[in-house]
Amino acid sequence: MEAHLNKGIKEIIDQYPDVEKILDEYGIGCGPCNVGLCLLKDIVEIHRLPPYQEGELMARIAKTIDPEADIEIPEAKAASADEPAEIKYSPPMKKLVDEHILIKRWIALIPTVVEHLDVESNSGRQLILDGIDMIRSYADRYHHAKEEDILFKYFDENSKILQVMYEDHTSGRGHVKAMLEALERKDKTTLGEHLMAYRALLTEHIKKEDEILYPWMDRNLSTRQIGELFTKFSEADDQMGFSPEKYEKFVEALEKQFQKK
Ligand SMILES: [Fe+2]
Ligand SMILES: [Fe+2]
Repeated sequence: MEAHLNKGIKEIIDQYPDVEKILDEYGIGCGPCNVGLCLLKDIVEIHRLPPYQEGELMARIAKTIDPEADIEIPEAKAASADEPAEIKYSPPMKKLVDEHILIKRWIALIPTVVEHLDVESNSGRQLILDGIDMIRSYADRYHHAKEEDILFKYFDENSKILQVMYEDHTSGRGHVKAMLEALERKDKTTLGEHLMAYRALLTEHIKKEDEILYPWMDRNLSTRQIGELFTKFSEADDQMGFSPEKYEKFVEALEKQFQKK
């Protein structure tokens, strides 16, 4: 088992397919996850399982891998509660995680926006245009640009995980383009479909970044690089002269509007 702890989870699952089923029972979807970076020993930490489940899960995996061996199970790390341990991010990574919060608030509103979709009136159309502006300006130009132009440059951009992240950003842009075209045609169905598809894409994308990519990057960056990243992020924001407040207000107003409904 010791030797397996430092293996990638994808390799383990290929060798021992039952491990995927066990992980699934604990809500850890390593099988369908196309990132596949995690080492077996990091799975519990990355997916923030409550400590009482950690020993149990590792014991079951160990038994699957080697039913005969005398197995040593890693001890639960957090002693205090049954709550999953909180991920500690470095300051630049925390900045990106915090930016995700506003994006998540917007995409949480999308089903209600779609439910009340109005492509005929000016106010209805303006709401969609404002939402698309939020995606293009805040999520893409302000946030994704820092990932693509700065953060990802510190890693192998041809690696599978970064390819997946780039593809997600590109798919998001495709949905935006399709939304604008559908709005132009007053095609409510297609517009709603692309809004919902964007929501599903970004929900998964942000989860992958928050829970897997950023913690992994943090572990692989030196203290000097982390400081450098923070400076570069601040410089990029300053150069852009962009004020996120406009989008905070947009989301806030929409939340209030929908609360009343
Ligand atoms: Fe991203
Ligand atoms: Fe992101």
